[in-house]
Amino acid sequence: MGEFEGKVVLITGASSGLGAETARLFAKEKASLSLTGRNEENLAKVAEECKALGAEEVLQIIAHFDSRQGIEKTINETIKKYNKLNVLVNNAGIVYSTTINTATPEIFDDTFNINVKAPLFLTQLAIPFLEKTKGNVVNISSSSSQMSTKLELMVYCMSKAAVDQFTKSLAIEMAKKEVRVNAVNPASVPTKIFRKVLKTEDDYKKYYETTGPMHLLHERNVTAREVADAVLFLASDRATMITGTRLNVDGGRVIAGQ
Ligand SMILES: NC(=O)c1ccc[n+]([C@@H]2O[C@H](COP(=O)([O-])OP(=O)(O)OC[C@H]3O[C@@H](n4cnc5c(N)ncnc54)[C@H](OP(=O)(O)O)[C@@H]3O)[C@@H](O)[C@H]2O)c1
Repeated sequence: MGEFEGKVVLITGASSGLGAETARLFAKEKASLSLTGRNEENLAKVAEECKALGAEEVLQIIAHFDSRQGIEKTINETIKKYNKLNVLVNNAGIVYSTTINTATPEIFDDTFNINVKAPLFLTQLAIPFLEKTKGNVVNISSSSSQMSTKLELMVYCMSKAAVDQFTKSLAIEMAKKEVRVNAVNPASVPTKIFRKVLKTEDDYKKYYETTGPMHLLHERNVTAREVADAVLFLASDRATMITGTRLNVDGGRVIAGQ
């Protein structure tokens, strides 16, 4: 029997990277999945993989989180299909490279809309259903919430610090209802998120060569599977006494401050 059999898990940004790997792991545990993305082809591919891995059912939702419509559509379609929700994984996110000189109001709004505002309002709409199932929320934050690096990610770091605070505040608010709220904070995982920032293949390769040794364990970057394992654990009944926590999946990079 799968650990998530009979449970409905909604994962945002599941068309790629960490969200896709998290979806595959929940699928192996027989969850019923609701997956969002913008790229239809990529989302369909992940959905097929999840079905093959053992997901009970997979709902695909094309949703853009820069609008209220995308947020409402995600919750409405999930509830319409399954009529319940056990786990919400707020994973969709974006990065811009910014310094005090290069930050613009547009970059600030886009980053905070996707990384902070969308998780908050998705969760707001999900809460009545999570209360019924005594479910939980896992927010994908980042080691960047705690470290300011030399990598010129100021606005991104600010947005992830807000995600950590959202996690803690909501955990306090929801404890009496037995809805748990936690965050997973990965360090560097080679996914497509930095493609926009690191335009050439060479820049991309060099970036991850630089970040690898910053992780004390194994002196390498983190894998998507290592992040997905942490998400699955926090979402599971093995974590029934864990709420408001920030779980760094960073090979000790945060404690080393690099
Ligand atoms: N990779 C890392 O090193 C790292 C480290 C720490 C934290 N994180 C966090 O992990 C999360 C996932 O990132 P990733 O590395 O897996 O990146 P990714 O491969 O680029 O995936 C991002 C996901 O978010 C979706 N998304 C982006 N903008 C969106 C929007 N405006 N509306 C709706 N969905 C949107 C993307 O959809 P489409 O692709 O379909 O457009 C995709 O499914 C993010 O919150 C990120 O901040 C990543």
